[in-house]
Amino acid sequence: MQLKGLLSRLFGGGYGKSQPDVSPNRHCSEFEVNNWAISDFVIRKLFPIVGFKPFPLNEQMLILAAILRLRPTHIFEWGTNIGKSARIFHEVCKEFGINAEIHSIDLPDDMEHVEHPKERRGYLVRGITGVTLHQGDGLDTSLRILSRCGAADVSPLFFIDGDHSYESVRRELEGVIDRVPAANVLLHDTFYQSVESGYNIGPYKAIEDVLGKRTHSFRILSQNIGLPGMTLLWQPRSKRA
Ligand SMILES: C[S@@+](CC[C@H](N)C(=O)[O-])C[C@H]1O[C@@H](n2cnc3c(N)ncnc32)[C@H](O)[C@@H]1O
Repeated sequence: MQLKGLLSRLFGGGYGKSQPDVSPNRHCSEFEVNNWAISDFVIRKLFPIVGFKPFPLNEQMLILAAILRLRPTHIFEWGTNIGKSARIFHEVCKEFGINAEIHSIDLPDDMEHVEHPKERRGYLVRGITGVTLHQGDGLDTSLRILSRCGAADVSPLFFIDGDHSYESVRRELEGVIDRVPAANVLLHDTFYQSVESGYNIGPYKAIEDVLGKRTHSFRILSQNIGLPGMTLLWQPRSKRA
């Protein structure tokens, strides 16, 4: 079999043809991305760089879908760790021509945290134009940076992936929602399992409690078929959606 025919059978009939529309129906109220096209990008481009841990392929697809549909002007994410999520954001924006400032935040080196990467902090994005690394608390630092931008054209996407306790996620999600009305928010480690599993369901409960206490216009999209789980809170009326 010819190479092109084989690739076609493996990856779908559109392989080798001109770029498909990755985010069709953006004028419609419902969320839609081209799952075949984004699968191709995840396998071809992201997987060789970031593998599938901590972000399984379905979660990489949700990150990609969020960026393509919401077209953020700014991405604030914490924690950086070695820079896998920051690198995913960068690769997606570069490939699909999305001009977003990417700010990635982790705790200062002298702060104790079991997952702090120390000297490996952000090594996958070091020196990449368009990605800025910061040290500090994720919420406080990103709100400070955002306050320096003109509010009019800002459509930020936040990625909350720092400390995964109920209290931290609740504080961070409340801080974003209350202070940035145009925000769309992705959260990691949001898988829900029954109490018997012994899993940390703090992030899941925090989302439930924060949204339950407010009148809000978020739609919820989740990849929660197993650990670690990812949830997107998106607003149909956010500026560029
Ligand atoms: C699970 S790791 C993040 C994984 C990372 N996003 C990646 O792409 O691999 C959690 C990170 O959050 C950082 N962290 C914990 N609390 C934080 C906070 N309040 N602000 C910023 N970073 C925080 C930790 O130091 C750690 O590096």
